[in-house]
Amino acid sequence: MNSVEASGLTVKLNGFEVLNDVNLSLDHPSFTVLIGPNGAGKTTLLKTILGLLKPQSGSIKVMGLDPTKKSKKVRLMVGYVPQRDRISFFVPMKVKDVVMMSRLVWKRPPRWITESDEAAVKKVLNFVGAEELADRRFDELSGGQQQKVLIARAIVSEPRLLLLDEPFNGIDVKSQSEIMSLLTNLKENGVSVIMVTHDVSDVIHLVDNIVLLYRTIIAAGKPKDVLREDVLKSVYGDRIRIYAHEPYPVFVPRDSHG
Ligand SMILES: Nc1ncnc2c1ncn2[C@@H]1O[C@H](COP(=O)(O)OP(=O)(O)O)[C@@H](O)[C@H]1O
Ligand SMILES: [Mg+2]
Repeated sequence: MNSVEASGLTVKLNGFEVLNDVNLSLDHPSFTVLIGPNGAGKTTLLKTILGLLKPQSGSIKVMGLDPTKKSKKVRLMVGYVPQRDRISFFVPMKVKDVVMMSRLVWKRPPRWITESDEAAVKKVLNFVGAEELADRRFDELSGGQQQKVLIARAIVSEPRLLLLDEPFNGIDVKSQSEIMSLLTNLKENGVSVIMVTHDVSDVIHLVDNIVLLYRTIIAAGKPKDVLREDVLKSVYGDRIRIYAHEPYPVFVPRDSHG
């Protein structure tokens, strides 16, 4: 089975064709990094996988299901960590409640918290190394701590696919590498991961696929096939610096925001 199977996918937003003829097939489980310049449609593709956006044409299957038809089932199987700058930072909630929320949202009212919910929250905070933050206020944490809590929130319902939109933006290098090791751990436990990031240099040795998107799939496959100077230049032009480096060229975006 594939975690994601898209064919001829076209997605329009307000009449503007953001994604055009996207064809993509990702193994399950696999660790995929999604790259592309600002405005390439990366967030749009994640939202389409989640079933939040409907394609104009083409087809998409997520863990074998069509997210436009089986949206609830897909939402239960797919964890989502949105871009952090699009989430209100000033949630005056305790960390454990931020995580608990995502377990309760699928229950019918009244949403009683059971012992197994409490245990799941504890387990997942422990997994991301944030157990000692359980009673702290979310809005008082560092960026790296918040990101780990948001990952805990996304995996507390035990998804089979986890989507992360630029999880490394504005967080320290130590948190980045801790997050990478927990994502690698998830993949080893059978969860597929799709992560949008601008800086692949520190993660390429840990990922199975790199997908380069610019309105359509420009290249997808093993890092060595995608991270080629000619391929990168064709998309980024002079928006990145490319450094000759073995085994892959290293590239650093000039615009790494958004
Ligand atoms: N609601 C919207 N209406 C119209 N255009 C949009 C909307 N959201 C995003 N876009 C446009 O779609 C393109 C891709 O956006 P996005 O998926 O956010 O790209 P990325 O995440 O790769 O930066 C951008 O040009 C953006 O301006
Ligand atoms: Mg985006």
